[in-house]
Amino acid sequence: MFFEILTLFPGMFESVFAESIVRRAIDKGVVSVGIDNIRDYTGDRHRTVDDYPYGGGPGMLMKPEPVVKALDAARKRHAGLSPKIIFLSPRGELFNHGIARELSAEQGLVLLCGRYKGLDQRVVEKHVDREISIGDYVLSGGELAAMVVVEAVTRLLPGVLGNEDSAAVDSFFDGLLSPPEYTRPEIFDGVSVPEVLLSGNHARIREWQERQARDITMARRPELWRRYGGEKDI
Ligand code: ADE
Repeated sequence: MFFEILTLFPGMFESVFAESIVRRAIDKGVVSVGIDNIRDYTGDRHRTVDDYPYGGGPGMLMKPEPVVKALDAARKRHAGLSPKIIFLSPRGELFNHGIARELSAEQGLVLLCGRYKGLDQRVVEKHVDREISIGDYVLSGGELAAMVVVEAVTRLLPGVLGNEDSAAVDSFFDGLLSPPEYTRPEIFDGVSVPEVLLSGNHARIREWQERQARDITMARRPELWRRYGGEKDI
C-alpha cells in the first residue's frame, strides 16, 4: 500500500516515520510513503500558497492551484492505480477503527494536509473522496492528523505487527475498550495485582477481563457501548 502526503510542512513527518511502526512497515516493503511539498507547485516568485477568503472574515485559505497540481502529480506517480484522496480537516467525519479498516483495503491513499482556515470548497468537491477529522478540536494543520491515519491504517496491514502485539487484541478490535493490564512485581507500591490474574484459571481470567472491558466501556464511552449492543446486557 502506498501513502502520498501533500503538505506545506514536510519536515514534520521525518522523525515520526523514521522511528515508528511505519518505519518497520516501510523496511518490510509493506508500505511506501511519499511526502511532497505543496509549495513546490506554486508559480509565482513568492511561492504563495494562501489567499483571502471571499466574503471576508479572519484567516486565509489554501489557494486551489498549487493543491490541485500537487494532487495531479501524486496521481501521476501512481498511474493506473486509483488512490483515495483524503483531506484532513476539523470538518471531516470522525476517524475511528472502522474507517481505518476501510482505508486499509485501498491500494493507496493521498493525504492532503490542510493549513490556515482550510481549502477552497471547489477543490474539496471535485477532488476529495473523504474528509476526515481525528477529533473535535482544532489543530494548526492536518499534518498530525495525517500521521495518525497513516499509523492506524499501517498497523492493520498483514505482516506489519508480530503476534505479540497483534491488532486482534487491540482496544476497539471487538468494539470494547481493553481491560487493565499488570506486569511484575506482584506487589508494587503496596498494591497487589488482582488475585484472579494470578489464579492460573484461564476461564476465570477471561471472564474477569471481559467484565472489566464492559464496565470501562460503559462508564467512559457510552456511545461505544450502545454501538456494541451492550444495553441488553446490563
Ligand atoms: N486540521 C485541523 N484540525 C484537525 C482535526 N481535528 N482533524 C484533522 N485535521 C485537522
